[in-house]
Amino acid sequence: MLDIQNVSVKFSSASEVGAVEDVSLTLQKGTKTALIGETGSGKSVLLLAVMKLLPATAEISGSVLLEGTDLLSLSEEELETIRGDRISYIPQGGGNGLNPLMRIGMQIGEPLIDHRGYSKKKAIAQSVELLRRFRLGKEETWVRAYPHMLSGGMRQRAMIAMGIAAGSRVILADEPTKGLDQDRIQGVAECFQYLQGETLLCVTHDVNFAASVGEYISVMYAAQQLEYAKKEAFFEHPLHPYSRAILDAMPERGLKSNIGFAPPHDAYSVKGCRFSDRCPYKNKLCDEKKPPFIDVKGHKVRCWQYAD
Ligand SMILES: Nc1ncnc2c1ncn2[C@@H]1O[C@H](COP(=O)(O)OP(=O)(O)O)[C@@H](O)[C@H]1O
Ligand SMILES: [Mg+2]
Repeated sequence: MLDIQNVSVKFSSASEVGAVEDVSLTLQKGTKTALIGETGSGKSVLLLAVMKLLPATAEISGSVLLEGTDLLSLSEEELETIRGDRISYIPQGGGNGLNPLMRIGMQIGEPLIDHRGYSKKKAIAQSVELLRRFRLGKEETWVRAYPHMLSGGMRQRAMIAMGIAAGSRVILADEPTKGLDQDRIQGVAECFQYLQGETLLCVTHDVNFAASVGEYISVMYAAQQLEYAKKEAFFEHPLHPYSRAILDAMPERGLKSNIGFAPPHDAYSVKGCRFSDRCPYKNKLCDEKKPPFIDVKGHKVRCWQYAD
């Protein structure tokens, strides 16, 4: 469905190192993947690269196949017909991205009018259905409301509804729970659990949220993907020492579940593994040679421990 192959991003303005390095992720149709990583690890840049929404200073390499079409090779004009229609992007701080001057129903319905030729009336009726799918309550009332009349959590739900309104089959969401309290985080998690049939790639630095939404987990650290696995495998047997450190640091009740392991600034310039500096298992090879992304029976990990 969405096949991200060897995507790297470098900013010509910030010459030193790549913001994203050689990330490959295959999202099977109808699956949900949570991408976790510390601030600055390259998560947002990866999503923006997939949508081709980065500024001109970004040099992107690799390919992003959406049902076989390489998005990176399309013109801006061609992309505009695809964005919001076949692939949607819910930006960080999504709830604040709503237009304050437009009623909720019209905002959710707009992509239907634009891309599907719906009448205004039909688009609003569809907005009600979408909000109902996300259990907003009093949906007929809220479609007529302006964004400021909704709570933060409701705005976030409306934003997600907008993301899927036109029937996009692939949804990319960037930190949809950032700044929300625990109840609202739960609400957003429910929204994503109601998604059925859509393919989701959700960026987060909240490990609990990742566990409740993702069927697959991908871990980024210092621009690289360090681990990728099915959720159960990841939480039961994390392979990478970084992943283990994250999970070990989680309080059992999971109230404070944010990752707190930002890479040191010089991690990017090392010759070998970027985590070696902090790794309790490191050996000589780790400092000398960049570890490959190794496939251990479908569970992938960038660590020399697992090389033959
Ligand atoms: N437009 C840009 N120009 C130059 N560097 C950028 C730009 N956007 C992001 N970066 C850099 O790319 C790296 C990854 O950023 P980002 O993807 O936003 O991290 P995350 O979303 O994981 O917190 C950071 O070092 C950031 O400073
Ligand atoms: Mg980000």
